[in-house]
Amino acid sequence: MNASPAADQPVARIAASARLRGELRLPGDKSISHRALLLAALAAGESVIEGAGDGADVRSTAGIVAALGAKVERRPGDGRTVTYRIVSPGADGLHEPAAALDCGNSGTSLRLSAGIAAGLPMTTTLDGDDSLRGRPVARIIEPLRSMGAELHARQNDSLPPVTVVGRTPLRAIEFATPVPSAQVKSAILLAGLRANGRTTVRESVATRDHTERMLRSRGVPVQSTGSADGEMTVTVEGGLTVHAVTERVPGDVSAAAFWLVAGAIHRDAELLLRDVGVNPTRRAVIDILRSMGADIDELPVSGADDGVGEPIADLVVRSSELRAVELGPSDVAAAIDEIPVLCLAAAAAAGTTVIRGAGELRHKESDRIAGTAAGLRALGARVEVDGDDIRIIGGGILDGAETDSLDDHRLAMTFAIAGLVAKGVTTVGRPSSAAISYPGFFDDLERVRA
Ligand code: S3P
Repeated sequence: MNASPAADQPVARIAASARLRGELRLPGDKSISHRALLLAALAAGESVIEGAGDGADVRSTAGIVAALGAKVERRPGDGRTVTYRIVSPGADGLHEPAAALDCGNSGTSLRLSAGIAAGLPMTTTLDGDDSLRGRPVARIIEPLRSMGAELHARQNDSLPPVTVVGRTPLRAIEFATPVPSAQVKSAILLAGLRANGRTTVRESVATRDHTERMLRSRGVPVQSTGSADGEMTVTVEGGLTVHAVTERVPGDVSAAAFWLVAGAIHRDAELLLRDVGVNPTRRAVIDILRSMGADIDELPVSGADDGVGEPIADLVVRSSELRAVELGPSDVAAAIDEIPVLCLAAAAAAGTTVIRGAGELRHKESDRIAGTAAGLRALGARVEVDGDDIRIIGGGILDGAETDSLDDHRLAMTFAIAGLVAKGVTTVGRPSSAAISYPGFFDDLERVRA
């Protein structure tokens, strides 16, 4: 899938680059692409998704939608994005899949699909690769069971595969998520569409709100109320129809994050990133980098933030003198996927960065605390891990070294970016994992060094 020769090797070799320049278009936002596909399955008629991400994770969700009985047409776009045309019979016309649904490496595919399957009168099994089989599912099983669906999973209902015996209608619930998770919130809201009455999810910290926005734009009202201490309460009315829409997916800010860090820590860089989604619940990485001193300009492209559409901006990043930062659990929740590359920024920053309460990172595609620490230490950075807290003593020079992505896309890209600034040559083991979220990443890396 990833055209670059570098990505197809067991190891990618990245030499330091004298300059970074260029203009990039990012893959379509992964979180939004998953949701657009799944909501298209629930909506009777034709949905068109332009600018969708074409990473392996989004393809897994497209496969799930097809297996549930919607017609899925994928048209290649500009090499970074694709257009999907989905024709669905609507939620009531979906059929029981003939085999287990393959979620591949994708936690979002599994957890959101479980929320949908809970409200369908059929039995569905959700499975994936070895990494996904190690990721927690009790967090969705508990609320979906209390809504009336039957769910079972491996190892005492803790790990995939998950079998869901759905039921229509479900019972509406009020549920407080034990860990801030947009996947869990979204699974409950999607099940809530098929419930009698109003389903409410309470979060101690607001997580990404794409599901809420996308339901509103499809004719389903969703109320979100924030409190002064950061809590968020989200309510959806059951029994309403999800309408089919045509929509355009913005560029993925989580993919942009790699270039924002590359530009900020490189001594001769200027990069322009086009059409990046800057949703307030996703943009923390931009604001954290700015608070570290990163020179990032944001030029709005579209979207007054009306809580329905997604605001989009062009971003320009230039070489910067970064300073250390202190991040707490709410920052970790807000920048959950960007913490590895922010650790790289911290390694290049003056002073000691402290990241507290990062335990959720252990439950991602790999143990990202261990994987990030191992890779950055190999490169000569000073990283201390104390339970769920990470301390990075910045300011040292990074030296090219051997790193391992652990088959985790975000680690592969973090260490490849480190290779652009580290002295000499850096190798990244298992680089093809980048194509989980960013096919063409290594092509873009070659382009900006030119
Ligand atoms: C996602 C939510 C986050 C994030 C993941 C995508 C989503 O996971 O890490 O990459 O699209 O809802 P959690 O909800 O498990 O924190």
